[in-house]
Amino acid sequence: MNNLKILEESFSKIKTYLQANENTNTRVVEFKKPSEIQAIIDFPISAKGVTENEFLDLLDKYLEYSVKTGNKQFLNQLYSGFNFPAFIGDIFATLANTSMYTYEVAPVATLIENEMIRLMNSYAGYTHGDGVFVSGGSNANLVAMFSARNRVMPESRFEGYSQIHKLKAFVNEQAHYSFETAANVLGIGAKNVIKVKSDANGRIIPAELEKEIEASIQRGEKPFFVAATCATTLLGAYDPIDEMAIICKKHNIWLHADGSFGGSVILSDKHRHLMNGIEKTDSFAWNPHKLMNIPLVCSVLLVKERGVLQHNITDINTDYIFHDIDQIEDLGKKSIQCGRRVDAVKLWFAWKYFGLKGYQNRIDNLMEMAQYAEARVMEHPKLELSSNRQSFAVCFRYKPNSETDLNAFNLALRESMRKSGKSIVNYGYQGKILVIRLVTANGELTPSDIDLFFNNLLTEAKKLENTQNLQHG
Ligand SMILES: Cc1ncc(COP(=O)(O)O)c(C=O)c1O
Repeated sequence: MNNLKILEESFSKIKTYLQANENTNTRVVEFKKPSEIQAIIDFPISAKGVTENEFLDLLDKYLEYSVKTGNKQFLNQLYSGFNFPAFIGDIFATLANTSMYTYEVAPVATLIENEMIRLMNSYAGYTHGDGVFVSGGSNANLVAMFSARNRVMPESRFEGYSQIHKLKAFVNEQAHYSFETAANVLGIGAKNVIKVKSDANGRIIPAELEKEIEASIQRGEKPFFVAATCATTLLGAYDPIDEMAIICKKHNIWLHADGSFGGSVILSDKHRHLMNGIEKTDSFAWNPHKLMNIPLVCSVLLVKERGVLQHNITDINTDYIFHDIDQIEDLGKKSIQCGRRVDAVKLWFAWKYFGLKGYQNRIDNLMEMAQYAEARVMEHPKLELSSNRQSFAVCFRYKPNSETDLNAFNLALRESMRKSGKSIVNYGYQGKILVIRLVTANGELTPSDIDLFFNNLLTEAKKLENTQNLQHG
């Protein structure tokens, strides 16, 4: 195969793809059922491989039927957008293909990761902090819970964990499911994650947290871990860290901040107050692959105390890899991974490019776009907010004229939006109420992108209403 020819053709495909994404007529997705995609793309691997042209054709098809998350009408997930310097950084990271375990193999990337951890700790106010890049926010939450368990039960690293210790973790009832997964993986058990009541805005109620902790102590259990969510997955609510920190200090419990979704708000002078008290936490999960628009995966676990992460590792007596010869700590010694992608590199390239102020502006813009979207909902007679907007998520419903089941109507509306391919948003349940959730995660959104979204939504809603009227009439 002529690799250079494939490379040139691939770059021209990338250019065409990026140009198309700028065009407001380009669909976010060419929706197809699994069987239809299977009929278009030849998935099995053959013995002899494919020709150069067949290979290039597969590249086209891959892009054509993948969701275009860089398109500004992709408002579905907590991540979106196309970040040019980070994309280039990621290509170069793949090109060099170094692994983050040692300075020997990844000298530049090691220094980059150290610098990113230092910078991120300075925002968190962790003056003697440390951290490590992990493979996602869920894993950051896992390593945080793992570190908390090892603090109260250091012997469990060698002996394993016994249920006689009755460890209990406490999270917002609207916290991410990864805490239950973490408890499951750690042998603590998902049932031992206590879900604490939240208020009408989705923020944990500190008095309820304290009540639950005290009741747990009364039962002879050992509360060891509390998580403040910043921001919650559906509503974007920020738990009150300051108040939670007082409770955790009183009971000597590890306090973790799950900023997997909204942690990047800490970059904004205007909105950082949402995370007041962050410097009092023991650990902080921060996902640059969400609001900083770094390509997946780019996720960090910061810890307040240096040495905590190394303490998690039972045996680093691995002289075939860690030689300690370069007067710098090998980062593999504080990670539960061995081979590890250099995810800090794409973040560094992007942060270098935009600068501290540039990123601050991007985060401010996300909040402004959420405010703008909220205003669009409030001004339209047929749209209603389902709860007060907390940050970057706007949750709302469409109310048709006719007497109809609002959940069924809004579910159908979001499905017809998705299948039209013009805009994609997600939905979730607030109690029994189905709400459409628009997330402003793409730092380059403008009011006209939000307007286009609402035009598309209202057009689909009108079509759906007409069909229903015909059926009922
Ligand atoms: C609050 C919260 N925590 C954790 C996660 C998990 O992050 P990741 O998808 O990077 O594993 C998410 C993902 O949406 C989240 O919203």
